[in-house]
Amino acid sequence: MAVGFLLVFSAVLYFSWCIQVDIPAASYDVARGDNITIPCTFKSTLTSVTTATVEWSRLSKDGLSKALILMYYWPDKDTDIGDEYQNRAAFAGDIPRNTASVNISGISMVDNGTIECNVNVKKDVTGKIQDVTSLVVLVAPSTPVCSLEGKPEYGENIRLLCKSAEGSPEPTYSWQSYSAANKMRDLPPKSTQDKGTLTLVNVSMDTSGFFVCTSANKIRSAMCNMTVAIYPPSMNIAFTAGMIALAVGAIIIIGIVAYCCCCRDKGQGEEYEMEYPDENAEEKLRTEHGETAYDDQPDEEHDRSQPPMLPPNKPKGTVY
Ligand SMILES: *[C@@H]1O[C@H](CO)[C@@H](O)[C@H](O)[C@H]1NC(C)=O
Ligand SMILES: *[C@@H]1O[C@H](CO)[C@@H](O)[C@H](O)[C@H]1NC(C)=O
Ligand SMILES: *[C@@H]1O[C@H](CO)[C@@H](O)[C@H](O)[C@H]1NC(C)=O
Ligand SMILES: *[C@@H]1O[C@H](CO)[C@@H](O)[C@H](O)[C@H]1NC(C)=O
Ligand SMILES: *[C@@H]1O[C@H](CO)[C@@H](O)[C@H](O)[C@H]1NC(C)=O
Repeated sequence: MAVGFLLVFSAVLYFSWCIQVDIPAASYDVARGDNITIPCTFKSTLTSVTTATVEWSRLSKDGLSKALILMYYWPDKDTDIGDEYQNRAAFAGDIPRNTASVNISGISMVDNGTIECNVNVKKDVTGKIQDVTSLVVLVAPSTPVCSLEGKPEYGENIRLLCKSAEGSPEPTYSWQSYSAANKMRDLPPKSTQDKGTLTLVNVSMDTSGFFVCTSANKIRSAMCNMTVAIYPPSMNIAFTAGMIALAVGAIIIIGIVAYCCCCRDKGQGEEYEMEYPDENAEEKLRTEHGETAYDDQPDEEHDRSQPPMLPPNKPKGTVY
């Protein structure tokens, strides 16, 4: 008992003799695009602080590196702003009043993470000179995309996938099932859900219906709705046979069309034959005049684009 009292007493003594930096809340929520003031206060043992620097930074996910938000120097009242925070961060504290808050505007996903307030007071360096908080940038989940993996046939195992491209905090997903008659029903007993993936085992005709996935975080939710139709494998064989028949039909039609085109091409080819030498002559004339003096390359390109257009010949035909 006495020891406990002594410990508390000495702790109080210890802390009251040292600098104490404090960010009041463990986390702050802010919607993407909004502005925020993150408060930070400090208690100094000095009655009057003559020189101090305040450093705000964002810790990397692994906590091993820091990105500077800003550095504030007292009594100069000068500020250095980190690269990612130019025009976005401002010191919003007042050293004589023991505050060291920061304003950050135009919050984006980049700002999501652990933020640290570090106060260095000259002649008061022992104690808790820093505190951290989580800045949680809120982004509504985007409409999730539902998709199916596997063969939707009797006896197969299939997976229904659901994923929102964005959302913060990370959305959680849940699936509901509706019968073909659109009546809500339990998910099949052996199904499992994990991070938006619903696994359905040994599916049958009864599995067919609507599957709706809801993606939600603390600000909003969004959903996708998927129609799942399970076929007997034989139906798929019939379907495949149908597709093959269609493909064969298409090939035959393409063949007929191609044959017709060939016949026509021969007739047209004769017409154009007369005009090609004409163009070649012109082309020759140009090369003789040294238009290709630079390089072979541009001329080759020119040649390739020329024949289908036949520009020199067209005006001749249309001028009356
Ligand atoms: C956020 O701050 C910027 C400038 O720092 C200001 O132009 C804008 O109006 C503020 N937005 C809100 C929602 O307060
Ligand atoms: C910080 O933000 C608060 C609240 O929007 C505002 O009243 C204050 O003027 C801002 N301070 C600075 C230095 O931008
Ligand atoms: C944002 O940060 C919080 C805590 O700092 C974390 O729980 C959350 O997953 C982060 N959001 C994203 C999308 O990384
Ligand atoms: C799959 O379901 C059918 C009935 O729908 C059942 O007869 C069969 O034994 C099941 N197969 C497996 C491997 O569970
Ligand atoms: C899912 O889609 C079907 C068909 O489009 C519709 O009848 C059903 O009401 C939808 N369910 C939900 C929960 O939106």
